[in-house]
Amino acid sequence: MEKYVVEGGARLCGTVEISGAKNAALAILAATILAEEPCIIENIPNINDTSVSLKILKDMGATVRLLDKNTVYVDASVLTSPMVPYEHAKRMRASYYYLGSLLGRYHKADVSMPGGCNLGVRPIDQHIKGFRALGCTVDIVQGGIISARAQELVGSHIYFEISSVGATINVMLAAVKAEGVTILENVAKEPHVVDLANFLNSMGADIRGAGTDVIKIHGVKHLGGTNYTIIPDQIEAGTFMVAAAATGGDVLVSNVIPKHLESISEKLIKAGAVVEEYDDAVRVYRHGPINKITLKTLPHPGFPTDMQPQMVAMLCAAEGTSVITESVFENNRFKYVDELSRMGAHIQVDGKIAVVEGVPKLTGAPVKATDLRAGAAMVIAGLMAEGVTEIEDIYHIERGYEDFLDKLKMLGADVKYICKPDLDMPEAL
Ligand code: EPZ
Repeated sequence: MEKYVVEGGARLCGTVEISGAKNAALAILAATILAEEPCIIENIPNINDTSVSLKILKDMGATVRLLDKNTVYVDASVLTSPMVPYEHAKRMRASYYYLGSLLGRYHKADVSMPGGCNLGVRPIDQHIKGFRALGCTVDIVQGGIISARAQELVGSHIYFEISSVGATINVMLAAVKAEGVTILENVAKEPHVVDLANFLNSMGADIRGAGTDVIKIHGVKHLGGTNYTIIPDQIEAGTFMVAAAATGGDVLVSNVIPKHLESISEKLIKAGAVVEEYDDAVRVYRHGPINKITLKTLPHPGFPTDMQPQMVAMLCAAEGTSVITESVFENNRFKYVDELSRMGAHIQVDGKIAVVEGVPKLTGAPVKATDLRAGAAMVIAGLMAEGVTEIEDIYHIERGYEDFLDKLKMLGADVKYICKPDLDMPEAL
């Protein structure tokens, strides 16, 4: 049984270097399928999800070499088995990006239905709507495989009913070599959507408007290799910003793009923190109390849903009652609230709304990570709490945060990783 053990009370102080963006890396690694020559990608975070994505590429027959901890060489020009089996797809939701890139290259794709964080029903109807608009037939065949085929891919005008990050990325990957022009409307504008468009354009694509409501793609015949550096991780940065404010610390969060953090900074300032912006860093500290706030998650540039659990953890110790609305995912994104309640939090959840009544302090307790960002929230709660918090199911956290404990220890946190035999396993006969 692997656990994190967190001794609360330390104020986080010092400097933390943010790694490359997980959600940009997963889209960009899938996009290497479209390159007819090798790609070198830098600033890839060394986390479980990127390891799974590299394994998918290797198992397809691509040549994959780690040039250093965060730099990878990928030559996907020759693939022997262009499909994604369940053993990989069940471990990582973003495995479905290989649908778009395999379609874009071969006009056919077979990818097992996705796995990943359990955040309620996470349909892919908008992905399929986009693929079909480009001329694909898409079926779910025996064994939960999504099977897509097209005689040819022809540009189309597609309006997404939801500004879905995944659908925007997946359809962009399928459309980049389609015949003619594809217009995508009501698209997601997250930083990693823009990073993917920049990556594809560095390979010779013609994608305009990423980061706005409309993306226009002129199909091209060939995509070459490229050298590309992934943007810093907006959510990892936000997680450390909240941890600094929650512990009353003073942290310089470096290697960031402050513009990507504006909605997080704005809410932290309302909650009583000070946020100083520099060219590629933000400094976060708090001297007064944590103020109650209202918060609603929204697609970018609104407050990111992936920062909602971390903020709720901090608001457990606010003066007054905060109201948080989760408007992106179903109420499954509040599953972690039961774990915070075990630490003395007073939170009522009703559908998409959580009402957090601040308490003087949290107390350490044995808890679980219920998903990736909820796991980060439990670490923040443990850092704030009095006493010891043991966090189980830390595999969720290790999917998305590079060297998480080491970075926290560098800031003065008393955290450690332990691995104990499973006590509830039946004794060996
Ligand atoms: C991406 O998930 C991220 N994952 C998530 O981050 C993030 O929470 C989410 O975007 C929102 O920002 C990756 O990038 C790998 P969506 P995705 O499609 O693409 C509904 C993390 O912690 N929807 O924007 O799945 C969907 O159910 C992870 O790093 C449809 O209804 O998110 C959800 O309610 C967790 N039909 C909403 O839209 C569709 O076809 C937003 O989903 C697609 C989505």
